[in-house]
Amino acid sequence: MDFKEHIIDKLTELTGLEKAAIAKAVETPPDEKLGDLAFPCFPLAKVLRKAPPLIAKELAEQLSSDEIIDRVDAVGGYLNFFYNRAAFITDTVGAVRGAGENWGKSDMGSGKTVLVEYSSPNIAKPFHIGHLFSTAVGNSLAKIYKFLGYDVQSLNHLGDWGTQFGKLISAYKRWGDPALIEKDPIKELLKIYVKFHEEAEKDPSLEDEAREYFKKLEDGDEETTALWKYFKDQSLVEFKRVYDMLGVEFDSYNGEAFYSDKMDEVVEILRDKELLVESEGAQVVDLSDLNIPPCIILKSDGATIYATRDIAAALYRHRTYNFDKNIYVVGLPQALHFKQIFEVMKRADWEWSSGCKYVGFGLVKLPGKAMSTRHGDVVFLEEVLNESIEKTREIIENNNSVVDDIDDVSKKIGIGAILYTFLKNSREKDIVFSWDTMLDFDGESAPYCMYGYARGKSILRRAEGIDYSGADLSKAVSDDAYTLVKLLNSFGDAVKDAADKNEPFYVNRYVTNLVKAFNKFYNTNPIMKDGVEEETKKARLAIVDAVCMVIKSALGLLGISVVESM
Ligand code: ARG
Repeated sequence: MDFKEHIIDKLTELTGLEKAAIAKAVETPPDEKLGDLAFPCFPLAKVLRKAPPLIAKELAEQLSSDEIIDRVDAVGGYLNFFYNRAAFITDTVGAVRGAGENWGKSDMGSGKTVLVEYSSPNIAKPFHIGHLFSTAVGNSLAKIYKFLGYDVQSLNHLGDWGTQFGKLISAYKRWGDPALIEKDPIKELLKIYVKFHEEAEKDPSLEDEAREYFKKLEDGDEETTALWKYFKDQSLVEFKRVYDMLGVEFDSYNGEAFYSDKMDEVVEILRDKELLVESEGAQVVDLSDLNIPPCIILKSDGATIYATRDIAAALYRHRTYNFDKNIYVVGLPQALHFKQIFEVMKRADWEWSSGCKYVGFGLVKLPGKAMSTRHGDVVFLEEVLNESIEKTREIIENNNSVVDDIDDVSKKIGIGAILYTFLKNSREKDIVFSWDTMLDFDGESAPYCMYGYARGKSILRRAEGIDYSGADLSKAVSDDAYTLVKLLNSFGDAVKDAADKNEPFYVNRYVTNLVKAFNKFYNTNPIMKDGVEEETKKARLAIVDAVCMVIKSALGLLGISVVESM
């Protein structure tokens, strides 16, 4: 039953206005005390030539209560509707428990493909905290779109091409030691890469050597290609270890190198469309009318660059997936790059390119640590993840919590805490990493939300043997129960908002509010305590059961797993 729809229908019948117009006008009152749904009568004033308060009063008189509407108040120019609480709670809790993990899902995406490109680290370089931000946001968006019925492809656009590989090959030939590399691939590759830069400062001929190696690589030379592949494979072993820890999977790892033979066509198309102009020897698309720098397509030495590969990748994705949306989750410092390439594609008359969406995010500040790869003093991500897990374990041990498997629980909470931190605010905001906030079991954090779930599960475990499947929900109509159930009802809206704005934080905020409301509910509505009347107990248990289902689904959309006890 859709309570809102029912009221919209009634108003349509009474006012003779278009249903769509009414649906647009109704709103949720700012304060729960003002009712569950409000209809502003101001737009009717012109048509009816009456003052809005009078219209509201007359409409209220004509609207009688029924099984859905408890009462209607006319306040100022507004009609305030109060739902029949018992009916709403019965209906919603029944629907949630009936749907289980499908509650909140939609088929709005059916038949449509969404590509979510995220993570995209650079091989032979550390997977840094910005890549983790991208991974958290992209992984969550992929899950959110899937939940809404879209066919989703998760893409990892690895940074595995460019002149830096000439340098790495040169460095490897001079100082590379396979045994050391295989033990700790990225640290070792980074070490020789840093050494290359130090040595090249003293002896610039190294740069020429590196350029030659890259040229060989581009020409498909066997030995250099084998080395490049070795670096890539070794790097992927490490990246995949991090993805496993995070529970993240990709459908494709086609990186920049994959497009190295697909760029000639792009250059040709742009040339045919007369979009290329010469600038200081380079071939560029001039974008000065937009007040932004030109998009370089071919450098003065004829080499393609990052942007060229991205344009080739977009064309390939269009042909391969015929996407509705092609989302790029990449940090804000690259906002201009995406603006440029999207504009070039538009000027090439690729209509489908309007489906390309740039989804940026802010900076991450790790107090006291720098993040440059040139100098080698970087934060290794795996260390950050492990530190979070370790700290969680200490907290659990200090709290003397009873858990089945402390390794598993610390891992889920420790990882969840990090993911939550990235999804807590609007993504364009900068983040300051703080263990105290991340692992604050009482604050807005993953442990706090996960604790809410575990608490609910522990109540349900204590209720084992009590059959609450047919509970009479009219026995649980307190204010706190009602607030909680209204939140359960709006889960799907939060997910749609998140997809609409490509902002997982809508789901994050939703689940945090749900857990807050749940805490309040079980504090003011005792469940397993002595003296709670049997039917009331059953009704409250059914609510707890429904809440647990939704916390689990919502956290799942953030990539966070629940634990049964903590
Ligand atoms: N590898 C790049 C980096 O680490 C990110 C790639 C972003 N995606 C893209 N299609 N350009 O900065």
